[in-house]
This record gives sequence, C-alpha cells and structure tokens, in this order.
Amino acid sequence: MSEPIKVVVTGAAGQIAYSLLYMIAKGDVFGPNQPLILYLLDIPPMMGVLEGVVMELADCAIPLLHGVIPTDDPVVAFTDVSAAFLVGAMPRKQGMERKDLLSANVKIFKVQGEALDKYARKDVKVLVVGNPANTNALICSKYAPSIPRENFTAMTRLDQNRAQAQIAAKIGVPVGNVNNLIIWGNHSSTQFPDASHAVVQIDSKQLKATEAVKDDNWIRSTFVETVQKRGATVIAARKMSSAMSAAKAASDHMRDWFLGTAPGHFVSMGVVSDGSYGAPKDVVFSFPVTIKNGKWEIVQGLPIDDFATKMLNITGKELEEERLEAIAIIEA
Ligand code: NAI
Repeated sequence: MSEPIKVVVTGAAGQIAYSLLYMIAKGDVFGPNQPLILYLLDIPPMMGVLEGVVMELADCAIPLLHGVIPTDDPVVAFTDVSAAFLVGAMPRKQGMERKDLLSANVKIFKVQGEALDKYARKDVKVLVVGNPANTNALICSKYAPSIPRENFTAMTRLDQNRAQAQIAAKIGVPVGNVNNLIIWGNHSSTQFPDASHAVVQIDSKQLKATEAVKDDNWIRSTFVETVQKRGATVIAARKMSSAMSAAKAASDHMRDWFLGTAPGHFVSMGVVSDGSYGAPKDVVFSFPVTIKNGKWEIVQGLPIDDFATKMLNITGKELEEERLEAIAIIEA
C-alpha cells in the first residue's frame, strides 16, 4: 500500500460534505489501495458540528482513513494537499441578490486561492463545488499563480449525471448504458445539456441517444429545461439543496481526474477555457474532456449545429458577465 495522501474538504460541516467525506474515505475517489488523511476545513462557529462529523468518521472504522484533522485555519487545511474539494461557501439566504452571493463567495475563493498558492503541493488538483462554481474556480486560480491553471476545475458533473439519468429514463435503460452526455458552459440555469453526441447501449448494440429517443423536440426543450432546473426542483421537494447527488458527482469528478476516463468515453468539467468551440477565453467553461495520467484534454472536432451555437453563446456571455462582476468586487 502507498503512502497516505492529504485531501482537504472545505465546508466540511455542511450537508454535501456529510455524504462526500464517507465516499472519499472508503476509496471511491482515489481507489481501494490509496490511504489518505482528511483535512476538514470550516469556519469557527461550525467547529462543534465538525467535531461530531469527526466522531462519525472514526466510528465508520474505515481502514483507508489514516487520519482526520478538523480545523478552521486554512494554513493547516491546505499544507501539502494533493486534492482539494472546495465545497464551503455561503449559501444564498432569503432576500439575497445573486450579486450579494457572488460578492460573499468570490472573496472566500480569493483567500483560499492565496492559501493554496502558498501551502498546497504544486500539482494539487482543485475541484470547486461552492457556487457560483465556475467563477469561484476562476478567481481561485487567479490568486494561485504558482499552480498551473489546468489544476483548477469547477463541478458540472452533477448536471451531467442528471442529464444521463433523464436520457436513461426516457429510453428505459439502466443509467450505466448511457454515455457521453455533455454539459456546456456555466453551472447555472444557462448551462447547455447536450444529448446530441451521447451514446446508448441497447441489447449489446451501441446507438446514438438521439436515434434511441426519436424525439428531437423533447431533446431540445423538455430535456434541456429539466436538467437546467433540476436543482430548483430538488429544493422545492426536499426544502434543502441537492447534497447526496452533489457529493456523488464531486466524487465522480475527482476519481476520473485522478484515475482517467474509460476509452471512448468523455465527461464534463468546468476548465479554464482556451476558446474551443467559440467559448470565451479566460472563463471557467464546462467542456467535454478525456483524462489520461491525471491530465484532462478538451474533446475536439464535435459538430456544433446552429441551436448548439446559440446555447453556447448564451452561457458564455453569462460567464463573461460573472467574471467582470467578480473582478469588480475584488478590486473595489
Ligand atoms: P451547507 O450550507 O450545508 O454547507 C456549507 C458549509 O460551508 C457550511 O458548513 C459553512 O459553515 C461552510 N463555509 C462557509 N464559508 C466557509 C469558508 N470560508 N471556509 C470553509 N467553510 C466555509 O451547503 P451545501 O449544501 O453543503 O453546499 C455547499 C455549496 O455547494 C453551496 O455553495 C452550494 O450552492 C454548492 N453546490 C454546488 C453544486 C454544483 O453542482 N456545483 C451542487 C450543489 C450545491
């Protein structure tokens, strides 16, 4: 068995972390042979709750978990970490405008970027989950100039998993039979869930999802809107935001980043845009990627029709606006 790696989860006393910590600890992310030490960061008022989480992790008696360190000090949390799950953020409260949320959260991600820059390993892989995830990841990377920009990613895997589940249910196949769904752009209601490159396994035959669904209108309207609004629909039912599914998605994202994607399959990740597919540069934009040896690469050459071009433009514009707002907040 190899040496334990250090993994940090921020917002460790929150609801996503409550599911995520167990998944990480038992080997879902780094594999069954990789021991780890978990660093749990939250804010001072949450230290009592965090103590309870630490007790529960101990009581899980997980052999791969070689240590758990709860802290409210970013220096302790980020020193020498190999993987960072940045989940902690201020949730939107009643009466709060989107701008107020952006304002509170980009400042958190500036501070955490600076701490990663100073204390983390230079090859640390950073996954930003806290919203607005794409712009938080961009800000975090800007304040960590000694760490390569490609090491900062934002989570759109929950949207991808939601899209995969919708297509599987529509066709009536297990969700594992559906692959290569794409989420383009922002993790927000402007995202473009795109089923036009997805493939489905039916009775040992591989078909395009569009051929299996046989309803282009559904794919362009009901499917897109259902995925875009799924987060709000879960909140309406549960009175709390998606947590178990968000944790599973974070675990899927980091596992694929560390261990690679299967041959012929791609996954969606928010990454610093190089302008592929006409997306704006210098924003964190969700693209289809393949991953090998810990490095992601944007899938190139997929045909993009007029509908997709329009959808990509909308979400790209929103990300450019968010970047301007975030920079204005930080420089104010
Ligand atoms: P939560 O409110 O249950 O937990 C958030 C935790 O973060 C709290 O314990 C809070 O004390 C902590 N926190 C706040 N500021 C912090 C800081 N500066 N450093 C460390 N910890 C800090 O929220 P939940 O449900 O766990 O969600 C966390 C974030 O994930 C939210 O921003 C939510 O909008 C986002 N989210 C993102 C998704 C995605 O697909 N990208 C999906 C679902 C949620």
